[in-house]
Amino acid sequence: MNRTKILVTGGAGYIGSHAVVELYEAGYQPIIVDNFVNSQESALNGIRTILGTDIPCYKIDCANEAAVRGVLEQEKDIKGIIHFAAYKAVGESVAEPLKYYQNNLGSLLVLLALMPEFGIQSIVFSSSCTVYGVPDQLPVTEQTPTKPATSPYGNTKKICEDILNDVTAAGKGQLRTILLRYFNPIGAHASGLIGELPLGVPNNLIPFVTQTAAGIREKLTIFGDTYDTPDGTNIRDYIHVVDLAKAHVVAVERLLAGGHADVEVFNVGTGRGNSVLEVVNAFEKATGQKLNYVIGPPRAGDVPAIYADVTKATQELGFQTTTSLEDSLASAWKWQQTL
Ligand code: UFG
Repeated sequence: MNRTKILVTGGAGYIGSHAVVELYEAGYQPIIVDNFVNSQESALNGIRTILGTDIPCYKIDCANEAAVRGVLEQEKDIKGIIHFAAYKAVGESVAEPLKYYQNNLGSLLVLLALMPEFGIQSIVFSSSCTVYGVPDQLPVTEQTPTKPATSPYGNTKKICEDILNDVTAAGKGQLRTILLRYFNPIGAHASGLIGELPLGVPNNLIPFVTQTAAGIREKLTIFGDTYDTPDGTNIRDYIHVVDLAKAHVVAVERLLAGGHADVEVFNVGTGRGNSVLEVVNAFEKATGQKLNYVIGPPRAGDVPAIYADVTKATQELGFQTTTSLEDSLASAWKWQQTL
């Protein structure tokens, strides 16, 4: 089988590893680059076991132009890039903004500088619903105005979108770009062989929930219950990571087929909003685990409610999610028990 090569930066990370599996299963040949700063080599073992084959992986920093050039020279005929590699902790980005700007912007600039030299015309970029800030309307569509970022992390996503818009426009058809604005990815591969590997105390809700159920954390603190939402807790759009990974496969297919606008933006969520309390209840129902939780003060910077309108991804990409919130949470719990 002659597989089309796709470079996957951050391919050993949480979303990246699931995308690598889906790409390979769809007939592509993923080539991973990852510096393993926020990922672990065990993800490669999981990928190997799921796929029954090794996926090439280069342990390099994507912001290092010479290193990336070396990979492109070695692999020669890469046809597209999915760019996941980035720092992603909101709080850390406030404390260490320079690290975020250097890495998240630097790696994208390196890729964009090298793509023409190697005849690579397609890139999928991992953006985030963070670009919508506190939205004036719900659900948010791709036309919902973006807002100034509330963290350096969020700002790197917005700036990377701007860079991609400008560079793609200047490329006069030689570059095609899809910006995927993710909502909240959760859960793990059905095999239980790959999943999220948060280092230290998790920032995100679901790993905190599963670690609490596993007894690693004493209790979950729900950050505020007096928001202007039906039960007072924040609302998010939680999408199963495999559903999210599949959006990358259809995005790559669309880019390689050509014939569409040079830059396209898609929301990738479920279209459902769930409150933190609903997530806690769904977790208990799906797993039979009782969760110890308390209500605490709101977390600085949290958006009260955001969820996606996914009409565009459904109509244009044929994208549909298939995993319910409860099944997503059950998969997260199954993964937690393997750790
Ligand atoms: N939450 C708690 N307790 C916790 C952790 C989270 O109540 O211990 C709540 C948060 O207040 C929020 C919800 O759970 O209402 C989800 O929080 P996450 O940290 O899991 O996710 P966020 O929506 O805050 O952040 C996600 C990504 C960020 C991204 C942001 C906006 O993790 O990278 O969406 O795009 F910036």
